[in-house]
Amino acid sequence: MIDIPVVDVMKQAREFEFSDMHFRHVQKFMLKETGIFLSERKVSMVYGRLVRRLRLIGVNTFKEYFDIVNRKADEREAFINALTTNKTQFFREKHHFDYLRNDLLPEWKKEHKSNIRIWSAGCSTGEEAYSIASILEASSFVPPMYDTKILATDLDTDVLEIARQGIYPLEGYQSIPQDLLKNGFIRGKGLNKSFLKTKAVLNNLISFRAINLMSSWEFKDDFDVIFCRNVMIYFEKNMQQELIERFRGKLRKGGLLCIGHSENIPGMDHGFEYLGNTMFRKKN
Ligand SMILES: C[S@@+](CC[C@H](N)C(=O)[O-])C[C@H]1O[C@@H](n2cnc3c(N)ncnc32)[C@H](O)[C@@H]1O
Repeated sequence: MIDIPVVDVMKQAREFEFSDMHFRHVQKFMLKETGIFLSERKVSMVYGRLVRRLRLIGVNTFKEYFDIVNRKADEREAFINALTTNKTQFFREKHHFDYLRNDLLPEWKKEHKSNIRIWSAGCSTGEEAYSIASILEASSFVPPMYDTKILATDLDTDVLEIARQGIYPLEGYQSIPQDLLKNGFIRGKGLNKSFLKTKAVLNNLISFRAINLMSSWEFKDDFDVIFCRNVMIYFEKNMQQELIERFRGKLRKGGLLCIGHSENIPGMDHGFEYLGNTMFRKKN
């Protein structure tokens, strides 16, 4: 077999010099601040995303740009926002929502449980939280009969802004179950016909907050369910394990933790019962 060297195709075409040292600087910063590990395979992606910031604020070198990131909190935020990956969709990995609807909610009904707390950790643009809300709404788990609250958090403040607005491209429709569409979502008309908007019945259940999972958390209540899906995949193994332990500490007894389908985290059996389909139930 011939060994073909990996060529970074972007290299020749770069408008600004982006050396190994620059990449290492970004890598170290992101790991420390967000837990996100950017491997060498991400060099072109990192360059491509950051270069837009350089152009926008009118600086000519990465060195100059990093100095600004160090000095100014708002550019630090924009820098982090630029490097997060926010792919999501309504009812992504639907089995978790099916379990909530068909197993957990009937169980709660039987127990006469009336105080419900759910956390969507790493919620991106909010589709995950609205999917949860639409299920709770459809099963009448809403105020005033129920004290229901969904907390949806992310460290990326740009995606949180989109989440708060609850306006999405119309294609979002396709992944929402038919019977949940009518009560929870409105199709735009006229100039807005290519958009979909969430209804107040859903919005009222959710609070969106900027929270970095690497920092300490202060919550009034523990949670019945934590969704943290397709977030830890970007973290190193030891950080993932630490986070799982912290999530366990924030779950009520019997609480459910849902992680992403490709997040194979060692040591998950500790303190959890595995239910299958990347769902874990806190033992005690
Ligand atoms: C790929 S999206 C997943 C969205 C949703 N959970 C889903 O599964 O569709 C990952 C999200 O995690 C967020 N994230 C990454 N590191 C984070 C951290 N340290 N604290 C909070 N959010 C983080 C990113 O900003 C991004 O919006």
